[in-house]
Formats: sequence, structure tokens, C-alpha cells
Amino acid sequence: MQPMLNIAVRAARSAGEIILRSAEKAPHLRVDAKGKNDFATEIDRLAEKEIISLIKAAYPEHSILAEESGEHAGNDFIWIIDPLDGTTNFIHGFPQYAVSIALKYKGRIEVGVIYDPLRDELFTAKRGGGAMLNNRRIRVTDLTGMRSALIGTGFPFKVPEHLDAYLAMFRAITLESAGIRRAGSAALDLAYLAAGRLDAFWEIGLKEWDMAAGILLVKEAGGVATDFSFNDNYLASGNVIAGNPRMHQLMYQLIEPHVTSALK
Ligand code: IPD
Ligand code: CA
Ligand code: CA
Repeated sequence: MQPMLNIAVRAARSAGEIILRSAEKAPHLRVDAKGKNDFATEIDRLAEKEIISLIKAAYPEHSILAEESGEHAGNDFIWIIDPLDGTTNFIHGFPQYAVSIALKYKGRIEVGVIYDPLRDELFTAKRGGGAMLNNRRIRVTDLTGMRSALIGTGFPFKVPEHLDAYLAMFRAITLESAGIRRAGSAALDLAYLAAGRLDAFWEIGLKEWDMAAGILLVKEAGGVATDFSFNDNYLASGNVIAGNPRMHQLMYQLIEPHVTSALK
């Protein structure tokens, strides 16, 4: 898998350059609303094109699932691409966004790369090979209680039917933890969890490209991720709880009473 990780890194850095070059003009870019509260710019599309062309040049027979251009059919290797995670931040000049690239083979995420071009932070993971930040090993925290825990999350603005359930979870976690952060990039939230900057994370209604690379990072950093039924169906359900094994369990206990049947 190392050659594939190398290609993912090259593609993420190259997309990151495109994003960085355009960051200053971001407030003036044409913004398309793909759906309610769902935006894309020409930079999302340019960055995605760059990633796909680098991957295709190395692995023309591989499949692709990319946020902006959808599915490109091929063999059992599937590259899952979010060219710019945190587009709303990018548009507003709020400095928290990243490129996320994962490689799935026969249902398992093998490689994950998340690149923050503003801070030049490169998070990488290979299944069974640990998780790294700029080539140094990272680990989830070893915290075992909610009291001093910093928790990451995202608001379910694209699935407002789950807002009440989410707010009940939010209330329970607010009352128990040291604080909650909603920084606006699920990929970076998961990378930060892997790097020990957050102690746990949960979100409703994510897409595969928001979390595939991040969840591999968390697992390779010693963490655990499940859906809201304590199973590993998070990529399909879009609902995820993650943390070190103990924090994951504590989060699950707080979240579970508010999980509706539609969220299982
Ligand atoms: C979004 C970000 C955000 C999360 C949303 C995602 P995008 O991705 O990851 O943190 O809360 O659900 O859609 O649209 O900026 O690529
Ligand atoms: Ca995203
Ligand atoms: Ca995106």
C-alpha cells in the first residue's frame, strides 16, 4: 500500500496548493448551492480534478468516489475523495479546511490522507501501519473521564430532521464534558482526534468522503469508531462516534438514550 499512500500524499499536497493559491479570492468566488446549506466553489472542482488526474495517471483501472463528480467506475480499489472539506469555512476565510483522500479495498479503508494546506499539516495512515502527522507518530489521548474532555462535533444542518435528537445529545455532552468544538471540517476533527487534540467526536449525517480517511487515522492512532448502534456501519449510515476505547464508551452512553430509530 505504500505506493498508493505516496500517490494520495502527492495528490493531497497538489490540491492543497490549488486551494491555498485561491484562498485570498475565496470571498469573491462563484458559489453554487448544491442543496440546502451545501456549497461548492470552482476551487472544490479544480482541486478534485487535480486529485483525480494524479490518481488516474498512476492507477487508471481504479474506481473513484468523489464528492463533486461522483462515481467513476473501475476495479475493487476505490479512492474516496473530498477535495475541500470545510467549504463554508473556505468561502468565509475561516482558516479551517482540508483535503481528504482515502483508498478502500474490498470494504476496508487501507490508506487515509488529510492535508491542511494553511498549516502544512499532513496526516497519514496505512492500515496496520499507525497514524502520522508530518511523519511523526500520533496517538489518541489516554483520557478516561468526561470531566476534562474536549469533544469535537458537527451540526446536522443538512439533515434538520435529526436536529432535536442532536440537540439532546449536545445537551447531555455539554453538561458532562469540558467543552465542545464545532470547527467546520469533519476530516480535520477526526485528524485532531487521532493527534490527541480532541478526546472524542460525534456527528450525524456525514458522507463517506468526509470521514473515510479520518476514521482510519483514528483507528491507527489507537482509537475506536462506531455508528450509533455500536456497529461499524458508519460509512453507510453517516453517523459516527469516535474516541479512545474508554471515551468512545462514555460518549456512547451519553448519546444512546437520544438515538431515534431513524439514526440506528
Ligand atoms: C462538511 C464538513 C462539516 C460537516 C458537514 C460536511 P464540506 O463538508 O465536513 O464539518 O459538518 O457535514 O458536509 O461540505 O465542507 O465538504
Ligand atoms: Ca466534506
Ligand atoms: Ca467538500
